[in-house]
Amino acid sequence: MTNTVIELHGIVKDFPGVRALDHVDFTLRKGEVHALLGENGAGKSTLIKILTGVHPRGSGDIRIDGTAVDIESPRRARAFGIGAIYQEQYLCPDLSVAENIFANRLPRSGILRRVSWRRLHRMAEELLAAWNVDFSARDRAGDLDVPQRQIIEIIKAVSESTLKVLILDEPTAALNDEEKGRLFGIIRQLRERGISIIYISHRLNEVFEISDSVTVLRDGRNVGTCAVSDTSKAELIKLMIGRDLAEMFPKRAIAHGATILEVRGLRRGAVIKDVSLSLHVGEILGVYGLLGSGTVEVGRCLFGVLSPDAGQILVDGKPVSLSQVPDAVAAGIGFVPEDRKVDGIIDLLSVRQNLTLAGIGSLGRMGFLNRKTEEARSRSWVERLAIKTPSLETPTASLSGGNQQKVVIGKWLDSKSRILILNEPTHGVDVGAKVEIYTIVEDICAAGAAVLMISSEIPELTALCDRVLVMYQGRVAGELAGHDITQENILSLAMRGER
Ligand SMILES: Nc1ncnc2c1ncn2[C@@H]1O[C@H](COP(=O)(O)OP(=O)(O)OP(=O)(O)O)[C@@H](O)[C@H]1O
Ligand SMILES: [Mg+2]
Repeated sequence: MTNTVIELHGIVKDFPGVRALDHVDFTLRKGEVHALLGENGAGKSTLIKILTGVHPRGSGDIRIDGTAVDIESPRRARAFGIGAIYQEQYLCPDLSVAENIFANRLPRSGILRRVSWRRLHRMAEELLAAWNVDFSARDRAGDLDVPQRQIIEIIKAVSESTLKVLILDEPTAALNDEEKGRLFGIIRQLRERGISIIYISHRLNEVFEISDSVTVLRDGRNVGTCAVSDTSKAELIKLMIGRDLAEMFPKRAIAHGATILEVRGLRRGAVIKDVSLSLHVGEILGVYGLLGSGTVEVGRCLFGVLSPDAGQILVDGKPVSLSQVPDAVAAGIGFVPEDRKVDGIIDLLSVRQNLTLAGIGSLGRMGFLNRKTEEARSRSWVERLAIKTPSLETPTASLSGGNQQKVVIGKWLDSKSRILILNEPTHGVDVGAKVEIYTIVEDICAAGAAVLMISSEIPELTALCDRVLVMYQGRVAGELAGHDITQENILSLAMRGER
């Protein structure tokens, strides 16, 4: 028993209309990396939030180092040495990077206990240096992009000196391969120091790369715990979704038509230096680049969120000016944002309202909504994407992370845009739904649309795209097609700007 850090017995947790955890037993050993797997809505984040005092457990026992405890608040969890990086980000956008990292332990000095800003910034810079990041301790957190903010959360959690258990809820969803490598290095160091890690991810490769044992949740129940060396990907998928699933996605051949979108010499500030691209009807064009390479900004320029300094954008061969989002929508462009919290879903709206939003209200087109049609349409998305929700009227904010992402995707898939810009479309989405989304993306292309897919998930690009543009320092470093779309080629272009 001595090497058991956390032991859960018979944990039950109910939310209105859902039993999120149903008599879950779970054991975490000292110095192990324990992966927690399961479909969207299986109960992973809920389990974590019970361990970190965010949610009270409904019933069941929690033991830490053999002693029965109550974790009634996040503060108490920290006192037990439990730290977590959540799926949603909790940084304060108006505070600096340094203030965010040291929020609950700002260095103070003198009899007035004033915050010592110099020391704070030095301490933060030291941590940042180890990560080789491209932002500084004084930057405002709100000005950074999703992966940068994710890195801050990670740095913040691992810098707590009392840390005994670190929980990572999909830490790599927004990271590219290089950043992921750095994170794994840190996880290994922590494990050597005897710290236990609970690792949640929808990427099975990572589970085999980094973890020692694995637990699978399905519908709130623990359906299996074993050593990673005793299982296989196929077996884990089957445990998760209750059926077999081919891991490889068969790409369909779709005929390409005329050029639907063309970008010439796009420039914006220091981030986009020169980008030209073309997209044809029926085509799926992937865009890959490391943090700061400009991929995200190109997507934003094409949706009128950012305005370019120079360059031309043509839709159906005609120049368009996309100075604001409605211009882009009017030009037939749809956009799945990288950060659903900021610009994707409206939390308080129901699943039904969100799913039919892009098609109607946001365009400002007046007209009567036919409630019946709206309901039927959203119901069909809920079914197709297997969105786990108690009802169509449930506020989107109370869904699990991956199910919220499915709502964002469904909303734009429903909008019938002719040019769809997908930014990390399967970020946090489970294996079964990923395949479904890929199928729908192909359906959309076959029906005469075209897709620009910005993704940091290389397997997704190699499986789905006809061509992949790789960006390096604000420019297109190269374009890959057919058999040339390989992980090695993509990474070499992204890291060195050449093959
Ligand atoms: N605050 C909440 N209010 C109401 N229901 C909730 C709340 N949080 C979670 N749920 C529900 O509990 C269930 C489990 O959700 P949870 O967030 O634990 O899933 P998850 O395994 O983390 O999924 P994902 O992979 O999508 O993040 C889901 O049905 C979800 O809708
Ligand atoms: Mg979750």
